[in-house]
Amino acid sequence: MGQITIFLLHTHLLLGIASSLVIQSMPWRVPCPHQCVCQIKPWYSPQSVYREAPTVDCNDLLLIQLPTSLPQETQTLRLQSNLISSVDQSELQGLVNLTELDLSHNSFTSTRNLRITDLPALLSLHMEENQLRHLPEAAFFGLPSLQELYLNHNRLRSISPGAFKGLDKLLRLHLNSNRLVVIDRRWFHALPQLEVLMIGGNPVDTIQDLNFKPLGALRSLVLAGMGLREISERALEGLQNLESISFYDNHLIKVPKESLQKLPGLKFLDLNKNPIQLVQRGDFRNMLHLKELGLNNMEELISIEHSAMENLPELTKLEITNNPRLSYIHPQAFQKLLSMESLMLNSNALSALHSQTVRSLPSLQEISLHTNPIRCDCLIRWVGADNDKPVRFIEPQSTFCSEPPELKARRVKEVSFREMADSCLPLIAPSTFPSYIEVKHGDNVALHCRALAEPEPSIYWVIPQGVRLTPSSSYGRYQVLTEGTLEIFGVTAKEAGFYTCVAQNLVGADTRSLTLQVEGGDLVHANTQKTEDSFEVQDVKERYALLTWQANRNIPTAHLSWVANGSLEDHHRHSTRILAGTRRFNLTRLQPGTHYKVCLHLGPNDTSCVHLRTKEVSMQDPLPDLTPAVLLAVSALLLLLMARACNGGASFSWKDHMLEFEKPHTTILTQEAKAFMTSPIPAKHLNQQDTDKVLSDGRGKDLRNTMLGQDSQGLTKEAC
Ligand SMILES: *[C@@H]1O[C@H](CO)[C@@H](O)[C@H](O)[C@H]1NC(C)=O
Ligand SMILES: *[C@@H]1O[C@H](CO)[C@@H](O)[C@H](O)[C@H]1NC(C)=O
Ligand SMILES: *[C@@H]1O[C@H](CO)[C@@H](O)[C@H](O)[C@H]1NC(C)=O
Ligand SMILES: *[C@@H]1O[C@H](CO)[C@@H](O)[C@H](O)[C@H]1NC(C)=O
Repeated sequence: MGQITIFLLHTHLLLGIASSLVIQSMPWRVPCPHQCVCQIKPWYSPQSVYREAPTVDCNDLLLIQLPTSLPQETQTLRLQSNLISSVDQSELQGLVNLTELDLSHNSFTSTRNLRITDLPALLSLHMEENQLRHLPEAAFFGLPSLQELYLNHNRLRSISPGAFKGLDKLLRLHLNSNRLVVIDRRWFHALPQLEVLMIGGNPVDTIQDLNFKPLGALRSLVLAGMGLREISERALEGLQNLESISFYDNHLIKVPKESLQKLPGLKFLDLNKNPIQLVQRGDFRNMLHLKELGLNNMEELISIEHSAMENLPELTKLEITNNPRLSYIHPQAFQKLLSMESLMLNSNALSALHSQTVRSLPSLQEISLHTNPIRCDCLIRWVGADNDKPVRFIEPQSTFCSEPPELKARRVKEVSFREMADSCLPLIAPSTFPSYIEVKHGDNVALHCRALAEPEPSIYWVIPQGVRLTPSSSYGRYQVLTEGTLEIFGVTAKEAGFYTCVAQNLVGADTRSLTLQVEGGDLVHANTQKTEDSFEVQDVKERYALLTWQANRNIPTAHLSWVANGSLEDHHRHSTRILAGTRRFNLTRLQPGTHYKVCLHLGPNDTSCVHLRTKEVSMQDPLPDLTPAVLLAVSALLLLLMARACNGGASFSWKDHMLEFEKPHTTILTQEAKAFMTSPIPAKHLNQQDTDKVLSDGRGKDLRNTMLGQDSQGLTKEAC
């Protein structure tokens, strides 16, 4: 079979688009049965061979039996939508050239009433939309040439092992939309040439090992709309020639990767509409002929992980669309996809697509990103950059920025490279995990936390006991995987409580929390215990003090405040938010020889304070005396840099300049960079005068808004 046939087969099966070729019917002058229409009509065999077929059309006539005196030359006999419940060979006697018989949508309840013993030329038999309940042994015995058999939309509950005996030439079998609960391998022994099997829409929940083994010639298999939960490793073994498979609308929770590895010739794979949460490393690997892959309409899909697709040298089209929770595609999700031309990612929850992802696809020609909540910052900057090989955007007119506020509703393509920042904050998409879940005692739970940012963020989790868990670590019933997933094995009442995921890089941090309730457990208990009073000063020098504390619970709203002794004015009171899970804070930029009161606020009634006095500057101190004026100037510079980093006003990045500032004259900035950057010290710490200096730069206004802003979910997005 040629290329065209393969294409038609594929589109017909997967997309439901029938080829419609407009060729006129011609008159056929014969004595035609009463009410029927006799014409010469175009006809295609199951192998796409064209014929002009003398056709008798008796559709929709309320017939209860076949019309008499059918013309001997009849090749196609159409009896659709009548009330026929039996046919006898004698009624078709003499129709030696009958190639297609259409009895669909009639009243057959059993194939025993289909008493056809000899139609040697019949290629196509339509019995769909009848009320067949069972197929006995050798149900279609007198049809040695049959190539196409339609039994879909009946009520078949059982099929005898030898039901298809005698159909050696059958190419297409449609058994979809019946009531079968198992697929029996023995049916297929009689069908060595079968190329297309449609068996979806039956309540089958497992495919047995080697279930399709006898179908070595099969090219297309449709298993859509069944109850399949998993596909065992050997389920598809033996399908050496399979080119197309559809698992559309099943209950698969992960990609059946082992079984797919048994399909060496696979070209088209449809996994649409399955509750798969993650496409994981190695899920699609070394599928050497795969051309098109569909991962659409998945309500549960959250993330496409590192190396999810690897070495698919012929993959040209990848469709991952209409997945309302999909917010993350790892920058290195695609590896060695050398032929990929078309990447469809519209209508997801993606805030960005990393430039690395795009760069990893050397043949990419077109991309679709519309209807995603795109953040127009450094991650999407590549869109406006001068690329050597421009990628065509599909529907650029409806690809909008949804953040930051000042670029909202602009078209991504129309925002210039310069308007976008070159480093950006982590953002944990709201769709990654819910803010509340209730689980049963003993359940295993997996919470997926992902964030895209530049520089790449690190992720950690804080559990209700206040313990901070970083990737690749485990603790009690907990485990955090490299990608940022927190797993809890065999939940008990003790695991109920408040969980927080933190994603941070040098630019800032994002946090997202969830309450886990264990059915019948007591949640309140875990989160109201007061922290033991252990807030203390571990070290004090001239300009900094190291503070530590204990916390036996997760407090995402903690903050620290400090004020120099004797300052009553409010703007001398400083405050910073403490990221969840932090137990230590290096308070820098203090004045030497000064008395400070420092308070840790863990909740409305839970504040502990300490007093400390910084050391006097010693005579040998190599540091220049940082007078308040110098301090302010440096702070302002810092803010300026951040403003540029945030707004993309300049071509240098924050990160590059960190290095410069790590020299002695800028000791002020060598405070633990992360703690510093992740807290809003600059904004809250500075008095009005400082802020005004920044404002005079002309960019300060936006900066101040966003730095102090909290988004509507109460998540703090700081620094930018
Ligand atoms: C059946 O088809 C053959 C070959 O096309 C033709 O020669 C023959 O006349 C046809 N028979 C009838 C009854 O139409
Ligand atoms: C600062 O605090 C200390 C201790 O509480 C107190 O003795 C002193 O009077 C305060 N004032 C100044 C200006 O140091
Ligand atoms: C906090 O203190 C107030 C007043 O002292 C009291 O009414 C409230 O119940 C306390 N809250 C908690 C959570 O202990
Ligand atoms: C705290 O910050 C100061 C000043 O930035 C630095 O010299 C010191 O090493 C830091 N201490 C710790 C423990 O991080």
